Amino acid sequence: MRFDGKIVVVTGGASGIGAACVAMFAQRGGTVVVADKNVDGASAVASGVGARPIELDVGEEDSVRAAEAAIRDWYGRGASVLVNCAGILQRTLPPERLSMKEWDLVQKVDLRGTYLCCAVFGATMAASGGGAIVNIASVAGMGSGPLHSYGPAKAGVINLGECLAAEWGHAGVRVNTVSPGFTRTPAVERGIEKKVLAADAMSSASAMGRLLEPAEIAAAVGFLASDLASGVTGVNLPVDVGYLVATPWMSYGGLRQAH
Ligand code: NAI
Repeated sequence: MRFDGKIVVVTGGASGIGAACVAMFAQRGGTVVVADKNVDGASAVASGVGARPIELDVGEEDSVRAAEAAIRDWYGRGASVLVNCAGILQRTLPPERLSMKEWDLVQKVDLRGTYLCCAVFGATMAASGGGAIVNIASVAGMGSGPLHSYGPAKAGVINLGECLAAEWGHAGVRVNTVSPGFTRTPAVERGIEKKVLAADAMSSASAMGRLLEPAEIAAAVGFLASDLASGVTGVNLPVDVGYLVATPWMSYGGLRQAH
């Protein structure tokens, strides 16, 4: 799994899963660009691994187009790998209390932002003979939950991956999705601190009885972005320590204790 000679752009690379992806790609020879709204965070992550930071707001078309053009300018060619990690979580509010402002913001960053980056970076890949895109969705996009904007946005990201994989297959651009389960990132740690998320409940809801580490998500992203996955496009790969397979067992009294 090597990325020598490849320009790899990671949105949301300043924190959590994105930062783990940056470290993994840099370790494996990639020329990595850390693209984030939080440019100080991007600089800190980039300087640790010899990557380059760039300010990018995935929700703003001008910002995405400017970043894509700047990266082409720096290297004389566009990105050959794009990982869309930028995303925001949502409070678990009922519709009666979830404002349309909050609903719209989640859609803007998580779904529209992912589409916009795919459209802008993917067009350059398609015009130049190929590339690989990996979008980060969520197990929340694969079933019901109290996340009335985040869930539909992530379901949209999964569908988007299928649409764009078919669109650009002939152009040599592969588009795949990784759907993480609960992963120990700063966003989730904040939720645990505020008692919006319960670490014990999240762990025991999975077959393997624990949370994920960001590096475990990055490993799956790396596989799908690499030439090892040259024949894989349009898939959604859950990396969830068995959350999806365990949850139906709750109707039967829960998982059995270790044998
Ligand atoms: P995080 O909060 O640690 O990192 C997210 C990064 O995205 C931050 O650096 C932030 O500055 C950046 N960002 C936010 N809005 C942006 C924008 N408009 N433009 C550019 N950058 C922006 O979050 P985490 O947990 O690492 O999540 C990364 C992705 O993984 C998100 O898409 C999230 O929905 C998804 N995910 C996370 C899970 C978890 O348990 N942590 C589970 C399933 C999916």
